[in-house]
Amino acid sequence: MTFTVETKKPAEYPCEALLVGVYEGEKGAGGLSKEAQTLDKILGGTLSRALSAEEFKGKPGTATAFHTQGRIPAQAAVVVGLGKKDKLTLPVLRMASAAGMAKARALGAKKVAVALMDEAVRGAGAGDKAQVIVEGGLLGTYRFLKYKSEKDKKAIEEVVLLLTKPAERGKAQAGTAKGEIIGEAVNFARDLVSEPAASLTPTLLAEEARKVAREAGLKIKVMEKAEVEKLGMGAFLGVSLGSDQPPKFIVLSYEPERGGARRKIALVGKGLTFDSGGISLKPAGGMETMKCDMAGSAAVLATMRALGKLKPRVSVLGLVAATENMPSGRATKPGDVVRAMNGKTIEVVNTDAEGRLTLADALCYAVKEKVDEAIDIATLTGACVVALGKVQMGVFANDEGLRRRVMDAAKRAGEGAWHLPLNEDLKEAMKSDIADMKNTGKAGEAGATMGGLFLQEFVGSTPWVHLDIAGPAFIDRETPLSPKGATGVGVRTFLYYLMGI
Ligand code: BES
Ligand code: ZN
Ligand code: ZN
Repeated sequence: MTFTVETKKPAEYPCEALLVGVYEGEKGAGGLSKEAQTLDKILGGTLSRALSAEEFKGKPGTATAFHTQGRIPAQAAVVVGLGKKDKLTLPVLRMASAAGMAKARALGAKKVAVALMDEAVRGAGAGDKAQVIVEGGLLGTYRFLKYKSEKDKKAIEEVVLLLTKPAERGKAQAGTAKGEIIGEAVNFARDLVSEPAASLTPTLLAEEARKVAREAGLKIKVMEKAEVEKLGMGAFLGVSLGSDQPPKFIVLSYEPERGGARRKIALVGKGLTFDSGGISLKPAGGMETMKCDMAGSAAVLATMRALGKLKPRVSVLGLVAATENMPSGRATKPGDVVRAMNGKTIEVVNTDAEGRLTLADALCYAVKEKVDEAIDIATLTGACVVALGKVQMGVFANDEGLRRRVMDAAKRAGEGAWHLPLNEDLKEAMKSDIADMKNTGKAGEAGATMGGLFLQEFVGSTPWVHLDIAGPAFIDRETPLSPKGATGVGVRTFLYYLMGI
């Protein structure tokens, strides 16, 4: 899918599908965007009549197609909902583009033109608009077809953003380039998460990380079991004991050119390439979705790959403690005690609460690297899914400023995020009779917070944010921006955050 910018009139542009906007809440032609009104006139009122008959409401994320009967060179007009006119935001525009592009793809369009650049978005320029339109196009048309025998015949090949103001050309092109990098990064994360556990073992995940480093010009170090042992990462290693697959500790690093780094930030991704629960085995129903338990690490790898191209002025460490969680004669048993890199001992009362054990050591590593900020991202708790559903990640933090900055980035990125508490009183439940702490609290009580409180024990005084993506990482119903399955959540939040520094 290629994206270009052209200064041409939509009504004169030859393509198979032309995206135009409609606003919500106004009846008939009144709700048409400027471009849609022009087209409507040429089409003899077809659009406005059809829209009122079809009761297309113009809601964000909806789209409907009309054949143009040869009255304009575009074969179909794909009308996309832009929501309330005075409330058009970049996230809405992203979603509208995604819905429209998905519709165009379903029509079998190879060449798509977009007439949305003239819509007014408060505080946004041509670059921002082009960026989200391109992001939406890539996200809304993504499919994971690697294991399907029938290949994808319906793929949009060419997208042209139509401009009426030639002066906006440069900015629109720059925005398009950014949007492509971001959209492709999210789709790369989706590819990794969709990959079955057998073909994405810790070893293969480390191989992917090496590829990322090569492509993006990053430094990489992959530590084997012996080295991890030497570092004292007993919590991480304890999780890996039951698996025949060797664990890998992946360290990717991005440094801006000519120095000039403003801060050093660690992104820590949970990298459980499969979570069976271990000896505390999960029930069979739905266990196949636990290949998604490396979605945090996918978000980190995808972010690192994009950083090499976006080149923000910040140093970034990408850390992944990759392993499987499997039952076997060698597996950690409930009641076993492990020692994390910072010396803390943990009684593992439930081997299914393994993510926090791997993250504990990865966070200790980040602290040792003297980062200014650490952000971890993890499919950590079912409790977070119960609390927030599949549309928001849970956000926990020990630093209010960092939390606000990350949540602001999530908002701009169009990713749902909700602040949840780290109530210290609840720590009581993680007291162990024989070790410094247990790896779980009381079942059914504040499970998501408990995960966060556990991790907090390993970050010291480093400003830290924990993103629990157990809900939004892998979804069972498609949304305008994502098909069923892997969503690539977190990548956009990370990239928007790091680009804003
Ligand atoms: N990987 C799971 C969490 C999860 C649940 C991810 C649903 C994606 C969707 C995690 O390792 C886990 O099993 N957590 C336990 C913790 C409990 C034993 C304290 C859980 O949530 O049940
Ligand atoms: Zn688990
Ligand atoms: Zn897990």
